[in-house]
Amino acid sequence: MLDGIIEEILIKEEELEERIAQLGEKITNYYNQDDEIVMVCILRGGVMFMADLARQIKLPVILDFMDVTSYEGGTTTTGNVRIIKDLEESIGDKHVLIVEDIIDTGLTLKHVINMLKTRNPKSIKVCTLLDKPERRTEKHVEIDWNGFEIPNKFVVGYGLDYEEMYRNVPFIFVPKPEVYEG
Ligand code: XMP
Ligand code: MG
Repeated sequence: MLDGIIEEILIKEEELEERIAQLGEKITNYYNQDDEIVMVCILRGGVMFMADLARQIKLPVILDFMDVTSYEGGTTTTGNVRIIKDLEESIGDKHVLIVEDIIDTGLTLKHVINMLKTRNPKSIKVCTLLDKPERRTEKHVEIDWNGFEIPNKFVVGYGLDYEEMYRNVPFIFVPKPEVYEG
């Protein structure tokens, strides 16, 4: 399936496992023991990370999912993310932990945070597996926990796709340019 497709393996399976265990411990220690956390996975890229991270958090957690899409070519900076699938849980007065695959420009995250804030949660924190700081336009968007800082390269695997493919690959890789240049 991956023959001739991989340019470079960026993060190996064991590295993901080790780092996610560390993140889980940090997050566990940050909250109070009896705090209930609503983990909000941003679909679909965040699913693998959510599943593995949740098992490393030793607190009562509820798992919920949200799918959003960004409007292309929007001229305003607010309201250009549309909810495709909303949360099932009400998050009023609850601790929310947003779980993202990758923060690129930061726009998606900014809009998700703004939307969730209107529901008056007790707190909103963000944990992302990958961060591409070079691409950030939303400088004020804060990331509380980050797995790996990566260079400005298109990456796939472990939840991240190229045209919906490769999400099931258990490591993160840079595909050969031929893959997406046709
Ligand atoms: P922003 O710019 O809003 O983007 O922070 C976040 C979303 O963009 C997608 N994205 C990627 N997807 N490989 C991918 O498969 C990448 O290298 C990449 N960079 C950004 C992703 O959906 C993320 O949630
Ligand atoms: Mg994608």
